[in-house]
Order: sequence, then C-alpha cells, then structure tokens
Amino acid sequence: MDWGMKNRMSKIIKPDGKTVMLAVDHGYFMGPTTGLENIAETVGPLLPHADVLMPTRGALRHYIPADTDVPIVLRVSGGTSILNPDVLHEGIVCSIDDAVRLNVAGIAFSILVGSSFERDTILGFTEMVDEANGLGIPTLAVTAVGRDMVRDARYMSLASRMAAELGASVVKTYYVDGFEKVVDTCPVPVVIAGGKKTPEDEALETAYNAMQAGAVGVDMGRNIFQSEDPVAMIQAVNSVVHDDHTPKEAFELFTKLKG
Ligand code: 5RP
Repeated sequence: MDWGMKNRMSKIIKPDGKTVMLAVDHGYFMGPTTGLENIAETVGPLLPHADVLMPTRGALRHYIPADTDVPIVLRVSGGTSILNPDVLHEGIVCSIDDAVRLNVAGIAFSILVGSSFERDTILGFTEMVDEANGLGIPTLAVTAVGRDMVRDARYMSLASRMAAELGASVVKTYYVDGFEKVVDTCPVPVVIAGGKKTPEDEALETAYNAMQAGAVGVDMGRNIFQSEDPVAMIQAVNSVVHDDHTPKEAFELFTKLKG
C-alpha cells in the first residue's frame, strides 16, 4: 500500500484500529430527512466526537466549515431517490477530481448485490476504485441492502467479500446474527451502518455485538442524529467502539450525558 493510501487509511481507522464514522450522506436520496434538516446545526456539536464524517459533496460545501479537521469519506455514488422503485440503483455522481478538490480521506460507493441492477452499481464502483487507487485514496464499499434482500450472514458475507475482491479498502454493511462469518470471510476492515432508528440501548447493543464479532467500528447516521440526544449518543457509541464498554455501561453513559 502506497504511503498516501496508508496515510489516508490512518485518518479513517484510528491507531487503536477502530473508528466511529458519522454518516450524514442520506440527503442524496432521502432529501432533508429527520435530523438533517440543517446539517450544520446537527453536525456541529457532533464533530468533536466523530473520527470521520461521511457527507455528500453538497453537504460538505454548504454546511461543513472548511477549517474542519475531521477526515472526510465522501459519498460519490447516487442517482435515484426514495421515490424510485429502483432506489439505490446507483452510479457515479461525483468525480474523483472533485473528491480530491475536497481534500477527502476516502470515498464511499454503494453496491446493490442481488438487485436486478447489481451490475451497474458494481461497474460504477470498480471504475471509481481504479480512479481512487491511482491517487492513493481508499474506497469504502457500502453494501446497501436492497428493499427485498434477506438480511442474513450469507448475504452480507457475499456482498462484503465481493466488495473486497473488487477493490474496496473498507466495507460497510449491516450487523446480522452470525456476523463473525461476515468479518472472517472479508479480507478488509468492516464497519456497520446503524440502519433505521432504534431505541438507543438496542443500537448500542448492535454496535457492541458487531465489535465483538470483529468489526472495526461503525458508520452510523440515523441512530445518532435522530437520537433524543445525539451528542450523548455519539459519546456512548464511542465508549463501545473505543473503550470496550458493554451495552449496559454505554447506555448508562448515554443516560448520564443526555439532557
Ligand atoms: C445510505 C448510507 C448511509 O450512510 C448508511 O445507511 C449509514 O447511515 P445509517 O446508520 O443511518 O444507516 O449509506 O445509503
């Protein structure tokens, strides 16, 4: 791995080998989703507790101060909205040149393994991997689960391993029972998305279980910025990822910090 790629990876996955990524890229297909009505207001108090921020280029330019020192993993795939039955039928929506212009530490691209349009998403992903690799920029593959996919370890293992074999530097997927198999059969670091908002104690348990199964961290959005207290929640997530807190300890921390 070239020095530049190693340097950028060290910004994404911290010296303890773990990471808490804050995903705020939802607007590229969900618009002003709850909690992201004004990304500047939402993200400002959370940034000091995030290892990485994952926005779109528009969110970065319009909402995030340019003097931010939190590393950026930029969402570069898209092309459909939540109104489209083929939502997440994604292609390249941001050039590598613009990602470089934005001084990102990495790029993020969704592949929809198992969908009727999987090939389109995979070819777009590998095109961006080639461009990014040429510039020493890591690619995070988001193995987004299509609407009618069975969320099980077999599927997540397939999608995650494909992403890694096709060139991903990091894979983001969803926690499922038997997650050890997903991690053990994926040759690159794995982080989990938080998925739809769930009660804080459940989200913290999911993060804990993923870490116990070998994930290096989370790339969490809704379960942080839609929490009743996002700043308390991201600190509780950090306690699970970086301080090996149990779900109970982390929820106690959340409860103490909230409000
Ligand atoms: C949407 C994404 C989001 O970044 C991903 O879902 C993480 O956010 P959340 O924790 O809210 O699921 O990739 O396609």
